[in-house]
Amino acid sequence: MPYARRMSHPHIEPVSPVLGAEVSGVDLNEPMDDATFDRIHEAFLHHGVLFFRDQQKMPEATQIALARRLGPLHTHPAAPTTDPDAAVFVIHAHRDSPVANGNGWHTDVSCDEEPPLATMLQVHTLPEGGGGDTMFASMEAAYETLSPEWRSRLRDLTALHESEHVYRGRYADRGVGDEDVVYPSAQHPVVRTHPETGRPSIYVNRSFTTRILGVDPEESDTLLRWLFRHVERPEFQIRFRWRENDAALWDNRCLQHFAIWDYWPNERMGNRVTVLGDRPFLDPAAPEPPPSPLRLSGGGLAPHGL
Ligand SMILES: [Fe+2]
Repeated sequence: MPYARRMSHPHIEPVSPVLGAEVSGVDLNEPMDDATFDRIHEAFLHHGVLFFRDQQKMPEATQIALARRLGPLHTHPAAPTTDPDAAVFVIHAHRDSPVANGNGWHTDVSCDEEPPLATMLQVHTLPEGGGGDTMFASMEAAYETLSPEWRSRLRDLTALHESEHVYRGRYADRGVGDEDVVYPSAQHPVVRTHPETGRPSIYVNRSFTTRILGVDPEESDTLLRWLFRHVERPEFQIRFRWRENDAALWDNRCLQHFAIWDYWPNERMGNRVTVLGDRPFLDPAAPEPPPSPLRLSGGGLAPHGL
């Protein structure tokens, strides 16, 4: 009797109507058939970030092979790596860490000309006593809640994303010397079109975006301050509480995330692999989404509390 390959039947459970879904019924350490991969890829495009529960620790080669099914891998411009292909970025924060990765709103490596399409992180060691959650925010929802006038204004703008201030000396404690390194910077549209779904989203973030180009510095500062505040509204967010060996796969083209460092001096550790993306662009012919059904609270300007 021929060997019967075990089939996966992924179950996709949305976290919120805005973004995120939990995936169960899939063992990431088992070979994944094309039908299962296609179902997961479809859910990834629809929900923006997927959380895989009840996993075993993936060997580096398994995680790399899985990420490669989404495309060629991205190499981080600054971080220490363990494997010869520099594909695995070990996320590790502990008592002596001067900083913790991702402890602020950002899109991964948006300072690159071709930033990562996706990031896959598996967390192996959770901080004792809790903490270490990751927040995610939908930049599509952030765009869809804007008035037509603001959408139109932002669609004309380009922003500078820089990394010198983020990366210089950042990994010195992990043996990374960077005396001769020039850290990347790039110009990207403030509103980008998702290359696979065609949906627009806001593409500026507090960590890397330093300047709106073509306007005077004061206007740039005002616009960015307002945009950073808008995109960080709780209506666009979810917050994921990790369990040991949970894996997350997120789409850097349409969301931001924030890895909360609330657990010092405890330790958190995992492996991250990123997939190379294409250069962000705005397709002027892509259809405009309808106004968002979200009822925003007034941005804290109006008293809605009880
Ligand atoms: Fe990140």
